[in-house]
Amino acid sequence: MASLTVRQLDDKLKQQLRLRAARHGRSVEDEVRSILRAAADEEPAAPVPAAPAAAETATAPQAKRVLLIIGGGIAAYKSLDLIRRLKERGLAVRCILTKAAQEFITPLSAGAIVGARVFTDLFDPAHEFDVGHIRLAREADLVVVAPATADLMAKFAGGHADDLATAVLLATGANVLLAPAMNPLMWANKATQRNLAQLAADGVALVGPNEGEMAEAGERGPGRMAEPLEIVAAAAALLARAQPLKGKRMLVTSGPTHEPIDPVRYIANRSSGKQGHAIAAAAAAAGADVTLVSGPVGLPDPPGVTTVHVESARDMLAAAERALPVDVAVFAAAVADWRAASAGAQKLKKVPGQAVPALALTENPDILASIAQRKTQRPRLVIGFAAETENVTANAKAKRTRKGCDWILANDVSPQTGIMGGDRNTIELVTARGSEAWPPQSKDDVAATLIDRIADALKDHP
Ligand code: CTP
Repeated sequence: MASLTVRQLDDKLKQQLRLRAARHGRSVEDEVRSILRAAADEEPAAPVPAAPAAAETATAPQAKRVLLIIGGGIAAYKSLDLIRRLKERGLAVRCILTKAAQEFITPLSAGAIVGARVFTDLFDPAHEFDVGHIRLAREADLVVVAPATADLMAKFAGGHADDLATAVLLATGANVLLAPAMNPLMWANKATQRNLAQLAADGVALVGPNEGEMAEAGERGPGRMAEPLEIVAAAAALLARAQPLKGKRMLVTSGPTHEPIDPVRYIANRSSGKQGHAIAAAAAAAGADVTLVSGPVGLPDPPGVTTVHVESARDMLAAAERALPVDVAVFAAAVADWRAASAGAQKLKKVPGQAVPALALTENPDILASIAQRKTQRPRLVIGFAAETENVTANAKAKRTRKGCDWILANDVSPQTGIMGGDRNTIELVTARGSEAWPPQSKDDVAATLIDRIADALKDHP
């Protein structure tokens, strides 16, 4: 480049340049030269300038978006080729480099191939183009981690979020594909295998590792990162996996409610929220835009789901109504039927010699019934649960009619079943057409089965 002409500098900038040049005793041209030289030398601090998201890669507007996280391993150099291969398939690629990855490749080299800046920092307030980890997580149809190092896998399995890559992995609702790469001894280590089993149970997909020569002289075994074309094939297969609820809005209630008696005491029940949260997560994985209204539970918010935290039944109803309109609503919360008629503003005191206070109760709103019986904005499909301890089918059928919902998932919550608070559930699905018993299965599998049924129902009656 022999010469460079910069047009359309505004007056303020020209004035600043003149002042700066004068301060340094240089001509304006020399000052600009020195600024450009410093910027070009300072590679990580001067990433490839960001362009608006749509212009980041020369891809079709509806192109599927892959977020590639490059971990710190010798295989990182292959990920540069992977970027190229993903783009060849018409995919829009964004790229995160972990700190360790930058020991192997630079943001500049990855950015040059991506055709846009790459992301490296969780907190980057100085960067005017910072899009934030939540946007990165949301604006991806698939997250690929290649190379997935033992450390990155351990952090992901443990739910850590202390850098950009792990924060994005924790926040995304998209499928995640790992391409592990490490020394065979590290791969075989019990800790790595334990993390791998956890990740597989969490629904994370895997490609490789392959067998072969390692970077370390004389070492061979499983641990080589899969080849870029293998990773692209696995990514394409995952992207092609149907998202049957794409474009659908869904509301899920979950967990117990707490009804205050006074500022320190409340009425509650044994619900853990596991089933409701599993349904919200499965719906998000199926592409739905999900609002989860959760009572107090000890569970993390499911990734990719908008979670609204509430305490009481009345708050839960208000939050559910605010989430409307939705296509489907699933009421999995174990809402307290009654609350204290007048919750004390101060702690109720034990007064010696005085009678034990009577707890006067009043009925809570029925959230399921009020949404199912709405004249406007009634979801197309309203699904309730029936927590029963006897006459399960008969009670569930009566409950479906009484509440005006479309389906009821009945379960026997007698203590001996272990369903309340446990990990497994046995469901009887009651619809207008009759009832059907589902086999005993994990709450995650119940959620997946329900999502399949919902997708079928919406397909039959679009
Ligand atoms: N439900 C609700 N609001 C309430 C009570 C229940 O939305 N105030 C919903 C639950 O989320 C569930 C369904 O109604 O989807 C049935 O709840 P369940 O506890 O089985 O029944 P109840 O209505 O409480 O009736 P009963 O206690 O007589 O069984």
